[in-house]
Amino acid sequence: MSRLSPGDPNSYSRPDQVLVTGIHLEWDVDFTCKVVTGSVLLTVERKGEDAPHLILDTRELTIKSVKVEETGQVLTYTLGDHHPNFGSPLTVTLPSDIKKQCKIQIEYKTSPGCSALQWLSPEQTAGKKHPYVFSQCQAIHCRSLLPCQDTPSVKMPYTAEVTAPSDLVVLMSALRDGQSEGASKTTFRFRQPVPMPSYLIALAVGALESRRVGPRSLVWSEKEYVEKAEFEFAQTEEMLVAAESLCGPYVWGQYDLLILPPSFPYGGMENPCLTFVTPTLLAGDRSLADVVAHEISHSWTGNLVTNSHWEHFWLNEGFTMFVERKIASRLHGEPTRHFSALGGWKDLAECIRTRGENDPLTNLVPDLTGVDPDDAFSTVPYEKGHTLLWHLETLVGGPSDFEPFLRAYLDKFKYQSITSETFRSFLLEYFNGRVSGLADIDWKAWWNTPGMPPIKPQFDDSLAVECRELCKRWVEWNTDTDCPFFAKDLASLSSNQVREWLAQLLEEEPLSVAKLEKMEELYSMSKRQNAEIKFRWLRLGLRAHWTECVDDALKFITEQGRMKFVRPIYRDLYQWEDMRAKAVATYNTHKDSMMRVAAYVVAKDLHLRE
Ligand code: BES
Ligand code: ZN
Repeated sequence: MSRLSPGDPNSYSRPDQVLVTGIHLEWDVDFTCKVVTGSVLLTVERKGEDAPHLILDTRELTIKSVKVEETGQVLTYTLGDHHPNFGSPLTVTLPSDIKKQCKIQIEYKTSPGCSALQWLSPEQTAGKKHPYVFSQCQAIHCRSLLPCQDTPSVKMPYTAEVTAPSDLVVLMSALRDGQSEGASKTTFRFRQPVPMPSYLIALAVGALESRRVGPRSLVWSEKEYVEKAEFEFAQTEEMLVAAESLCGPYVWGQYDLLILPPSFPYGGMENPCLTFVTPTLLAGDRSLADVVAHEISHSWTGNLVTNSHWEHFWLNEGFTMFVERKIASRLHGEPTRHFSALGGWKDLAECIRTRGENDPLTNLVPDLTGVDPDDAFSTVPYEKGHTLLWHLETLVGGPSDFEPFLRAYLDKFKYQSITSETFRSFLLEYFNGRVSGLADIDWKAWWNTPGMPPIKPQFDDSLAVECRELCKRWVEWNTDTDCPFFAKDLASLSSNQVREWLAQLLEEEPLSVAKLEKMEELYSMSKRQNAEIKFRWLRLGLRAHWTECVDDALKFITEQGRMKFVRPIYRDLYQWEDMRAKAVATYNTHKDSMMRVAAYVVAKDLHLRE
């Protein structure tokens, strides 16, 4: 397969010929048919005299009509062949006498199988009374929600009017701009004045309530979660302030959080003005709020300075990990930043072990020709990208030199979409021969070589020492001798240290069931509600072929749909031959209530699909 277009391997669009500069959406949300019907009004600009075609990405959309808004002139269009991952190009022929700038209106509807949307029946929600729908467009699912130039190289402002049953609330990744109530339906208006890429368009409709947690922040969720959320995310404003001190003013106005139903497939998603998060962050002790710091960071790295296509995804995620950990440092001290980076290095090592150190998708800048970004998704852009930035920070002389550079980079490229090369040129230009080490960086080793990064930074491991000692003692304990452990062993560890201790145990040979039973007896591990701890504890059990934890594991992967947790557990069950059939049966029973992207990748993990 070849690249779909010169500018983006995963998009058919040709913004170099005709560019979309604005979007207005008019939608009706139909819970009965599980479709969104309506229209999109695209402001387009011809880039060349002889550019007669507007090419848009679509996926399983039904197109009803294409018109010039001003004159009502009906335009001819063709829908190209359907590709299972990339969809089909919609090619609209523009009349030769059309102005350089014009508005094209497309009437259409989505299909019930729309990969961007998850429709929940009332029984699948916390309140059980009302239906719910939410979207996840990153990386290339926006095309299943609207015809658009579905490439992050194109940025535009958008407005929307969304109609839904009156007992529901509609939210989008935009500022709320009022609502009009009809007999049984309400229309909600939205406005996103900051130009942004299509993958940040987002929608949620449900029985939602809100609580204020800061001067520019509300938390939204079904009422069952709202109080817990208010407590969990109370530090939002503090994080925003820390991020602004590092990155510059927050330009998006509002920063709200929406706690989604458990099937939300990610930890968080940086939808502008309204971050989406999984309810698995509601640990009750604010210990998982780093995900919020991460999504806040995307307000600059990703949402202002954007990767121009998904091969440069590390520009979004590696930078965001870096800023996230800077915020952690400002809030909790520099050792916390090092502790988190060390944990990230370990996650990276595990990821590369699982994928294989020669897998070309472990390149920091992989070739995505013919590759669905959902298949390429991994820890690599996050942690290898973060390691590169950490290394650069050390090389240029530390935070006092690197942080001003970061600020200058964000200021220079805000509202733009860039490639890795743009970043490199700016770095070299900024330090302009003042830092000798920069000339010696082996960019090929960092960007275009699979496996672990060429250099491991020196992380301060003071917060990991206790975890490591306890891990070592458990590994070395001979169960024929007296048990040297006590219930209070974990008392002095923070929940992130307990998580780290489990992560270290997971790097060792599988523990014996006898040891795990002892841990359970002393530490009541299976009663812990923190999802990161639960996840690692269950994996330890599965690795040890501990039959008693299987039901808990199956419960965990069917009660919530966060892929970071669901995929490794399914893979562990698959590895354990006695449990393979059970894993497949569980998947088959639950796949229809999973979000489509999650069902798609788990099918691959279970070798049910190529
Ligand atoms: N933007 C990502 C989520 C994403 C990436 C969705 C690619 C679809 C395609 C988000 O910012 C993210 O990285 N979430 C992480 C949070 C973590 C690294 C703190 C997650 O979901 O676990
Ligand atoms: Zn991210």
